[in-house]
Amino acid sequence: MSQGVSNDEIIQSHYKIQAEKHKDSSTSTMEDIIIRQKELESIFSFFNLREVRVVASKVLEIGCGNGYTLQQLAEAYPHASFHGLDFSHDLLAIAEKRNISNGSFSQGDVRKLAFDDASVDVVYTERCLINLLSWEDQQKGLAEIHRVLKKGGFYFMVESFTDGFDNLNKARNELGLGSIPVAHHNLYFNKESFKEFVKPLFSIVNPSSLGNIENTALQSNFLSSHYFSARVLHPLLTKGDPNLKNTELVKFFSFLPPSGNYAPIQAHILQKKH
Ligand SMILES: C[S@@+](CC[C@H](N)C(=O)[O-])C[C@H]1O[C@@H](n2cnc3c(N)ncnc32)[C@H](O)[C@@H]1O
Repeated sequence: MSQGVSNDEIIQSHYKIQAEKHKDSSTSTMEDIIIRQKELESIFSFFNLREVRVVASKVLEIGCGNGYTLQQLAEAYPHASFHGLDFSHDLLAIAEKRNISNGSFSQGDVRKLAFDDASVDVVYTERCLINLLSWEDQQKGLAEIHRVLKKGGFYFMVESFTDGFDNLNKARNELGLGSIPVAHHNLYFNKESFKEFVKPLFSIVNPSSLGNIENTALQSNFLSSHYFSARVLHPLLTKGDPNLKNTELVKFFSFLPPSGNYAPIQAHILQKKH
């Protein structure tokens, strides 16, 4: 990282390249197609929960990128209104070209949301808060999400945590593979600090307590088996060939239920307390 480049500039320039390379594709910001597919399954499972469906009238996606996920949701839930907000001008320009009758977009910053207090029913993020490159900024983001949500409103977060990531690297190291580094534009959450910070603001909801749904896509470790196969077994068997992604071997393991805690990307349902 060169001196004098601010965190905000790192984020803007990183996503400028993503916008140019991937345009409106699902691979924008996520080239692992199984992760994208499982994230979508997880987000859809959340919106399908009865408790969520009855309240989700005004939905806000923070860090909507090129608008791919928002478009899928808006088409599936025509009676809800969806607003996507993003920091990157380049990704937002792509999102704004989507023709979504119940969707709109604006440029903004999760650390300072231009929304009234208690004005949104549901917020979701898909790998956005990890782009805030200090814990202080991440706390500001979480506090802003809390502020704009109505009491009892839901925040569905698909974000990365160090516990799963450390386990993954431990498994790699045991087998002689080097640690995967955290990308320069990301900062993963420490689970303990995260839980302590959100405790007065949100309840962390166990998905099985909502609508009696036993859905593995909603488990916090929904990507654990995939990460273990794609980032441990696959590189081991293929001698680390980085070009062999999304192979049949990796696909096979993606059919298995999530097991263990080997994924940095995790899903958590938070409900605003007061
Ligand atoms: C990993 S990308 C994910 C984008 C999209 N959710 C997707 O799944 O493709 C993270 C997104 O968060 C946005 N972002 C980063 N910092 C932000 C901030 N302070 N406020 C709002 N959005 C931000 C980025 O511009 C980027 O589009």
